[in-house]
Amino acid sequence: MEKLIQLIQSDNYTANHSQSVACFAKRIGCVMGLTANLLSDLFFAGLFHDIGKMVLPKNILYKPAALNSSERAQISLHPTIGATLAKMDDLPNSIIAMIGKHHERLDGSGYPFGLMAREIDPLTRIISVADVYTAMIAKRPYRQALPAHVALEELSKKNLYDQDVVSALKEVCATQKRKAV
Ligand SMILES: [Fe+2]
Repeated sequence: MEKLIQLIQSDNYTANHSQSVACFAKRIGCVMGLTANLLSDLFFAGLFHDIGKMVLPKNILYKPAALNSSERAQISLHPTIGATLAKMDDLPNSIIAMIGKHHERLDGSGYPFGLMAREIDPLTRIISVADVYTAMIAKRPYRQALPAHVALEELSKKNLYDQDVVSALKEVCATQKRKAV
């Protein structure tokens, strides 16, 4: 696991994003009453979900504009590459599965496999919501950060995410807000 940690830390944005996803995923799992073992799997899947990006060309990763179709095709390989790296490092199968499927969407519009809802396990659904929420509330070179409540509305509107997970995330955010006051 040490090698994977070094690899993810080689890129500041991805390292910070991944830590946030790991923390949100674990908090969501906690609200949903998951066991300590599952919470640990969620944390490490969050930490390594984008590990596959670390071996892709940096000029594509950091391109401050829309990607062309060939660049998008390369980026879309990162869940599969990540799952392979995790397997080579002997991570548990449940974590490998979450890494490989974190861009799948309930309506089948995700990638790399276009899986439908029944084929996407509950833990992977948590990683997807934590990932998209964390990305939306972060400032990027090509767009402003979305306010938390707007990001949560986006996640609620679409038929792409598990709404039980989104409800748990709302609870996590409400608790965070209360603590900040
Ligand atoms: Fe990703």
